[in-house]
Parts: sequence; structure tokens; C-alpha cells
Amino acid sequence: MTVRQGQDCMEPPGKALISAARIRTRVKQLAGEIAVYYRGQSFTIVALMNGSVFFLVDLVRRLPATARIECWTVSSYAGRKSTGKLKGLPQLGVRFKGTRVLVVDDILDTGLTLSKVLAHVRQAGAVDVKACVLLRKGVAREVSCEADWVGFEIGSEFVVGYGLDLDGAYRALPGIRSLTD
Ligand code: IMP
Ligand code: MG
Repeated sequence: MTVRQGQDCMEPPGKALISAARIRTRVKQLAGEIAVYYRGQSFTIVALMNGSVFFLVDLVRRLPATARIECWTVSSYAGRKSTGKLKGLPQLGVRFKGTRVLVVDDILDTGLTLSKVLAHVRQAGAVDVKACVLLRKGVAREVSCEADWVGFEIGSEFVVGYGLDLDGAYRALPGIRSLTD
């Protein structure tokens, strides 16, 4: 499906895959597990924008208020394809030295984004680096990379909604929809 300028988006695209209610339940469970892991310890959440915006907000509201939050706008996608390059990693200097970091992203697909972000944070001196993704695609990773917490396993389809987009559109859909026939 292509997005035409000025097109009315009232009709949701593709087919429903994961409902808003299922997402709510799962995010609550993930937050519970993450809160137990970090109990009593300070940590910084690095959320990868824009895809993880709704996931981040729903998750952090259930995590200790002492968690620091940073949002990094990184991107590797053009349309439905990964470009193989990651743009947008910030300079970290020494501020991550000795810290515990939880990277939050919308989806683990080729592994390129997460692996580069995790390496960047480790290189900056973080002592404990974990990753949480809402979705994990069932595809062969191009880069070896795994997340410590995964919301849902999906197939190889292209999905939108709850923050995930197709060229910027459909992020605000409350559930996840598949655009693959
Ligand atoms: P990776 O670098 O290939 O693992 O992909 C990670 C990034 O690509 C995610 O953070 C998303 O922004 C984007 N992406 C991958 N698959 C999809 C999809 O099915 N729908 C929307 N965005 C996707
Ligand atoms: Mg993303």
C-alpha cells in the first residue's frame, strides 16, 4: 500500500495483527520484569525514536521514576527496506561511563539498529547494557543481535501502528497492523 498526500486515513490499512488490549497487557508484564531487574539500581533508558514513542511512554509509566530517559532519533529505513546504514547516533563523551542502560526500540528486524546502538553505548563505558523491543521479526538477522525483553514475536511481515510507520504514516494507530498480503 502506498500513502498518497492528502489521503484520508480513516480506513485502517492492512490487517489487524496485535490489538491495543494485547499490547497493554504485555507492556504491563514487561514493565514488571524490567522493574524487578533494576530494583534499587539507577539506570538510563535510551529510547529510539520515532518508532518507540508510544511503547516508551506506556512502559516508563510503570518503571521506577528514578530512571533517566533519553530519546535518540536514529533511522535506517527508507520505505519498507533497511538501507543498511544507521543515521543519528549522538556523541556521548563520558556521561555514560559506569552507567546501566536499557535501550528501548519498537522492532528488531535485521538487527542493524540495535547492534549499532548497543555497541555505541558499550563503547561509551556503560557497565550493563540491556535491550527491550516491542516486536521481534522472525527473520534471519543480518547482524547477530538479540534483545533481553521481547513483547511479541511476529513473522517477516511489514507492520505499522503503535509507533511503527510507513514513511511517517500510521504511527498513531492504536494496535499493530500487517501490510503484507
Ligand atoms: P533493523 O535495524 O533492521 O533491526 O530495524 C530496526 C528499525 O527498522 C526499527 O527500529 C524500525 O524503525 C524499522 N522497521 C523494521 N521493520 C519494520 C516494520 O515492519 N515496520 C516499520 N518499521 C520497521
Ligand atoms: Mg525505529
